[in-house]
Amino acid sequence: MQPFEKPILVTRPIFPDIDGYKDQLHDIWESKWLSNNGPKHKELESKIKNYISAPNISLFNNGTVALQTAVQSLRLQGEVITTPFSFPATTHVLAWNGITPVFCDIHPETLTIDPEKIESLITARTTAILGVHVYGIPCHVEEIDQIAARHGLRVIYDAAHAFTTQVNEKEIAHYGDISMFSFHPTKLFHTGEGGALVYNDSTLKERIEYLKNFGIKNEDEVILPGINGKMSELQAAMGLQVLPLISDEKAKRSKIRSVYTTYLGNAPGITVLGVGANASQSEQYFCIRVDERQFGLSRDAIYHKLKEFNVYSRKYFYPLISKYPCYTNLPSASPDKLPVAEVAEKQVLCLPFYGDLQLDDVERICQIILSLR
Ligand SMILES: Cc1ncc(COP(=O)(O)O)c(C=O)c1O
Repeated sequence: MQPFEKPILVTRPIFPDIDGYKDQLHDIWESKWLSNNGPKHKELESKIKNYISAPNISLFNNGTVALQTAVQSLRLQGEVITTPFSFPATTHVLAWNGITPVFCDIHPETLTIDPEKIESLITARTTAILGVHVYGIPCHVEEIDQIAARHGLRVIYDAAHAFTTQVNEKEIAHYGDISMFSFHPTKLFHTGEGGALVYNDSTLKERIEYLKNFGIKNEDEVILPGINGKMSELQAAMGLQVLPLISDEKAKRSKIRSVYTTYLGNAPGITVLGVGANASQSEQYFCIRVDERQFGLSRDAIYHKLKEFNVYSRKYFYPLISKYPCYTNLPSASPDKLPVAEVAEKQVLCLPFYGDLQLDDVERICQIILSLR
């Protein structure tokens, strides 16, 4: 088999029609308003609120600052129980807030924080659980809610991959205290860079809005040590153009998922990661797990071989956050306490996944993988 002529990357952002974006820019030039809750920001906030039936929403300049603000808004301290199987930002926001992350192992099937292992990690210093709906696979939200209620803990979800996901026919952000969505260009819905917090308790709105705007209350008063988390008009304008395109993009990605699953779903040693019967797909990633003993080749070997064919997959999430030098000194980071995550980091591979990926190219990628055995 010949390599692809042009590189096939793991993802490609939605680029809306440039003329539509230019129209948005004309409006901005007319309004002379570039940031600080301008008309585009207001319009996007209300459109997303409707789109995902969000009880309360605040837009941000990126998902990381949004998550940082979520932690601040709940006044969390001490220790927060979280997953090592995620993007660096998930744990870094705890460290930036002076909180000790406590790593909890992940569930062998969902790869999200394992509810059965959370309670043994709770101490007098624990204030919250920070779960990640990794690849859009929902955390065990009901069990986590029950644990939190039993121990008086708050629950934050990093829902960076889970925009539009529903669990038990409810929008995912209805679970827990606060959910963060990332609108980075690699995400299904994006604003160039951006993010949002969605939360059930409307009394949090005021504090979150102050926190994301330096704590400024009015011309005379600054009431909190806030940060700059504001989404600009240029970002909001991009979001307004991208939002109407995502249902089409999801439909295309869903077809791509079917082709991948048809070819790879029954291959010995390959497991296609799914969201489970009670949830809907965010269509953010297409990921497989490779069991080297059955497939005959390791995940890493497939990753390198695909590169030779000009196909760029991602070893997402490798290495585990608990292995970053800044966290290895934590008792909970010890590999023998995270056996399931230890295996997952060596097995998961995210394959190219974006609406414009041609179905015959998807078939070819599958054939390449299967031919490697
Ligand atoms: C799981 C997860 N959390 C947080 C983030 C950070 O979001 P942002 O890039 O919008 O700051 C990302 C990636 O972008 C992510 O994948």
